[in-house]
Amino acid sequence: MTAGDPAPAWPRRGLPTALDLPAGEIQIWAIPLDPPAERVAALARTLTPDEEARAARFRFDVHRRRYVVGRGVLRELLGAYLRVPPAALRFDYRKRGKPDLAAPWRGSGLAFNLSNSEDLALAGFVAGGDLGVDVEFLKEMPDLAEIATRFFSAAEVAALAGVPAERKKEAFFNCWTRKEAYLKAVGVGLAAPLDSFAVTLAPGEAPRMLTLQGDRERAAGWFFRHLEPRPQYLGAVAIERPMPAGSAEPRVVAWTYEPGASLDASTPAG
Ligand SMILES: CC(C)(COP(=O)(O)OP(=O)(O)OC[C@H]1O[C@@H](n2cnc3c(N)ncnc32)[C@H](O)[C@@H]1OP(=O)(O)O)[C@@H](O)C(=O)NCCC(=O)NCCS
Repeated sequence: MTAGDPAPAWPRRGLPTALDLPAGEIQIWAIPLDPPAERVAALARTLTPDEEARAARFRFDVHRRRYVVGRGVLRELLGAYLRVPPAALRFDYRKRGKPDLAAPWRGSGLAFNLSNSEDLALAGFVAGGDLGVDVEFLKEMPDLAEIATRFFSAAEVAALAGVPAERKKEAFFNCWTRKEAYLKAVGVGLAAPLDSFAVTLAPGEAPRMLTLQGDRERAAGWFFRHLEPRPQYLGAVAIERPMPAGSAEPRVVAWTYEPGASLDASTPAG
């Protein structure tokens, strides 16, 4: 667990027919992407023709299946928040691909973001604002220093160099997921120069942005939470302060989505 605010717990929770999203709260769901075949088939039936076409473009079955499950469960969760059938929902896409709810749900103020890595996805939801979520499997990174030099800012490369060898991979992914979460919140993806901002990365250090285009105050306007949804995976959620409801700090709650689990998970810490 990272210093600062505690990382949320991830109790198993089934999908109720309706979900509530209190103001000032970010809700995150960890979604296992390799469920039984009949469940994949049921989720596939909720996709629109453009999503089916996208699924068909994946070269490998495993990637097609994981896309279908991620998108299908995203629809189930959005449907439960909005009280509409999952298959009825439509998305609009921004210039760099960030999906938003299309009309008439756009006006609901419900914002979401999805990320996936290997057999796990994270979906984050908030009422208003624009959040970004990223998750990564902690794979071996023999070329970690080279990738850091290419994608990280000079301050981040220097901080990474100071991390002991046995914690470098964790520090690398702390940095990567925090940068991605910010980039996904603003929706620009890799169009933003990756050295235009710097985040913390040392294991145990609270997640935050240190500078944004040379401006520490602007950087401090961003809220981050470190996420550990499962062993060997870590991630981050990012949102710009203040929360729409004006509350000081967002509250982050998280569950692991399991269709067969009890609907009323105890409220997790966060
Ligand atoms: C597209 C991008 C936003 C994220 O890509 P990614 O890390 O491969 O993928 P993730 O699993 O985290 O997120 C994908 C999901 O985010 C959403 N998304 C797509 N484009 C997005 C954008 N521009 N902004 C926010 N969210 C976006 C979609 O829901 C997508 O899911 P889908 O593919 O099932 O439709 C972009 O940042 C990118 O291409 N990154 C590549 C990685 C990289 O070099 N990062 C450097 C970090 S130091």
